[in-house]
Amino acid sequence: MNVVEVEGITKRFGEVVAVEDVSFEVARGRIVSLLGPSGCGKTTTLRLIAGFETLDAGRIRISDEDMHGRRPYERNVGLLFQDYALFPHMTVEQNVGYGLRHRGFPRDETPKRVAEMLELVKLSGLEQRRPAHLSGGQQQRVALARALATQPEVMLLDEPLSALDAKLRQELRVELKEILNAVGSTTIVVTHDQEEAMSLAEEVIVMDHGHIEQRGRPVEIYARPASKFVAEFIGRSNWFEGRLGDGPGSGVCTFQCKEGFELIVPEPARSGSGGYEVCVRPERVALESAPSGNGRDTSGAVNAIPGEVLDVAWLGADVHLFVRIAGGRRIAVVEKNVGQTNRRAGERVHLCFAPADCIVVPTG
Ligand SMILES: Nc1ncnc2c1ncn2[C@@H]1O[C@H](COP(=O)(O)OP(=O)(O)OP(=O)(O)O)[C@@H](O)[C@H]1O
Ligand SMILES: [Mg+2]
Repeated sequence: MNVVEVEGITKRFGEVVAVEDVSFEVARGRIVSLLGPSGCGKTTTLRLIAGFETLDAGRIRISDEDMHGRRPYERNVGLLFQDYALFPHMTVEQNVGYGLRHRGFPRDETPKRVAEMLELVKLSGLEQRRPAHLSGGQQQRVALARALATQPEVMLLDEPLSALDAKLRQELRVELKEILNAVGSTTIVVTHDQEEAMSLAEEVIVMDHGHIEQRGRPVEIYARPASKFVAEFIGRSNWFEGRLGDGPGSGVCTFQCKEGFELIVPEPARSGSGGYEVCVRPERVALESAPSGNGRDTSGAVNAIPGEVLDVAWLGADVHLFVRIAGGRRIAVVEKNVGQTNRRAGERVHLCFAPADCIVVPTG
């Protein structure tokens, strides 16, 4: 069952169309993330759902009820904003209990609920502290406990981890996911950080310029981006420009790269008159020393482009390489650092990848 239903919502600020005809729904207990670059309309979408902005068009339903005309406090949502907005003069306990008091929660049950929430976010024992005497991560947890305390139907999180440093962010990301799953809350989390979106959410909605570009499970979005924008926004990518050819058939066709070599790529659903580009993810490229062929290996099943290693960087678990190919292009390659790699700059290699590792996207 869908807890949140957003249908064709639009919001303008004067000339600016912040959100345009956006529709999506969130099933009970799911975590969905809105991902996109700065200014694409993520926060506005969240604020419309929370009732802080009014719609210019469309409608929003929460638990089958139209939210039209409902004020924020009349909607069953919990909010967590980027800056936490904790009350500095209140203790941790008072901060967490704040929303309960304002929603008419029975007074004598408040301490129990607050204690439960603090235990959930692992802050038991810090009840009497004030926000100024907490670390950034602890403050973030207080804000989360406060948002969860009223047991809202829907949790709306806007860049919940962005104020934290990278390492803490990674740790808290895992915890946040565990907590949201533990309470089974239906959650929309806004982020411009693709790693955060991909690791927190079961489903990702990629936005650009106020509209939805693509929606899907993280693995789908990464493996089958619908556009160049999505492919570039999520993960690293190498691009080949050129022209789609015919044959050899059975689901694959040729792609004539402008550098002069030919690739075998999956046959796209050809539509319109626009061109195509081919994207290959760095970790899908294998480096082989065998100097064979002229753009394709003998079996025809694998693409093999000759090149020269330009740069090798050992980055812990991964080795990042750049390989120069015909026309001076640099191709990024990521290999697992499993001990036996001894690549050197200047080495002649072949970049090998299967047709299935080529993502063909329409241009324009
Ligand atoms: N109150 C406002 N008045 C005028 N324009 C606004 C207002 N709020 C948002 N906008 C504009 O609407 C667009 C979408 O803004 P929004 O805050 O939703 O983006 P966002 O995706 O959350 O970006 P960020 O990642 O930077 O937080 C932007 O162009 C922004 O400048
Ligand atoms: Mg925002």
